[in-house]
Amino acid sequence: MKRVLILAGGLGKRMRSPKPKVLHEILEKPLISWVIDAASAAGITKIGVVLGHNSEEVQNVLPTGVEVYIQSKQLGTADAVKCARNFLDGKVVVLYGDAPLIKPETIKRLASSEADMSILTAKVSDPTGYGRIVRENGRISKIVEQADANEETLKINEINSGMYAFKSEALKFALDKIKSSNKKGEYYLTDAVEILLNNDYKVDTIEVEDSQEILGANTQRELANLAKIARERILDDLMEKGVTIEDPTSTFIGPDVNVEAGVIVKPFTFIYGKTTIESESVIGPQTTLRDTFVGRNSYVVRSECEGADISNGCGVGPFSRLRPGTRLEKNVKIGNFVEVKNSHIFEGVKAQHLTYLGDATVEENTNIGAGTITCNYDGIRKNKTFIGKNAFIGSNTALVAPVEIGEGALIGAGSVITENVPSFALALGRARQVNKEKWVLKKMEENHEK
Ligand code: UD1
Ligand code: CA
Repeated sequence: MKRVLILAGGLGKRMRSPKPKVLHEILEKPLISWVIDAASAAGITKIGVVLGHNSEEVQNVLPTGVEVYIQSKQLGTADAVKCARNFLDGKVVVLYGDAPLIKPETIKRLASSEADMSILTAKVSDPTGYGRIVRENGRISKIVEQADANEETLKINEINSGMYAFKSEALKFALDKIKSSNKKGEYYLTDAVEILLNNDYKVDTIEVEDSQEILGANTQRELANLAKIARERILDDLMEKGVTIEDPTSTFIGPDVNVEAGVIVKPFTFIYGKTTIESESVIGPQTTLRDTFVGRNSYVVRSECEGADISNGCGVGPFSRLRPGTRLEKNVKIGNFVEVKNSHIFEGVKAQHLTYLGDATVEENTNIGAGTITCNYDGIRKNKTFIGKNAFIGSNTALVAPVEIGEGALIGAGSVITENVPSFALALGRARQVNKEKWVLKKMEENHEK
């Protein structure tokens, strides 16, 4: 069986951040998750990770089934692999936890190589910092690290990506022989090349077409650069598929977002997590969606939605906030300054202005007037509000939960509703109006006499 081992034991000091390097995010997804998902997308189910300091924090983001090995001292890339010795079996592809742009196709190419060791290489304009691929008669003879290279070798522009495929038997053979006799005093995995060649193993190289794929993030600047590349890649793919992105320079879409052809994404829009948007919907401008589903023919404008499920033909915004557990059935309209949380809103409901619906069920075609508030929190627990179909909630109503409003009920504007309202009843929960005739004129006369 084919396996992927991801090295992430390094300290990442140059990020100058208290957070482990591989937990830094691109498009709201941690670096290491990019690599794990690329391996999974390549069809590889056995994944191991070598972690160093702060390993617990990193483990929190790993999917179940990923095997974790701890490297307590960062003694080099060969030492990192050694820590995962129990994982080495069959064909092992080695990847880096801080190189998130590697494509599944490339992992597949590596995994299906025939040699005992295959090295993923790239030709780059600036090879500074990378190990150089040294060739004799066209064949690889060794990899020389920047720190150990002479002037001649430094000129080589074919570099080692640090990603390899090994037959485990060959890898274990090399690991037992790698020494730390180099400038940095580290155990270099790259030394495997010479060791294997000297012992009649077969070593070859695979060149990536797109050298951006192998880039790693060592600094915050590099991280931002990778984010830019990733973002452009995703937007290009979507446009290729038939999604209209009006302004790619102000649009951010994460790698696990699914947007159907025919969707229009307007400027200043951010779509992250496991979001799906179905055909003919319009998202933006100035909208953020996270882990949200948007059905066909809906729009979300100048709004923020997280963990929401929006059906077909809905309108959300401008300035709406849908929080987790919001479910809008077909043709619901949620308007300006309306917040919805953990609520099931049935077909045709309208809540167009200045409203909070929390822990509520609102059945078909009910109209929620401006300024309606479900008072769902009594200071101790969250309580539920139920509103039947075809009801009419007058403006500025406070529904003090737990409370039930029956089908077709009518609530007078300005009511504070603390008791259930039967179906088709009119409920008024406010002080009766008092008109004092000519009160103002009398007051003026009184004042005049003084
Ligand atoms: C390594 C390669 C170099 C290659 C470059 C590509 C070696 C000796 N050199 O160099 O040829 O061009 O990657 O980026 O392998 N790691 C551990 N434990 C350690 C050291 C590193 O887990 O003790 C992990 C790091 O977290 C990182 C990866 O291995 O994900 C590479 O480590 P890094 O120190 O960045 O290697 P380079 O010196 O850049
Ligand atoms: Ca590096």
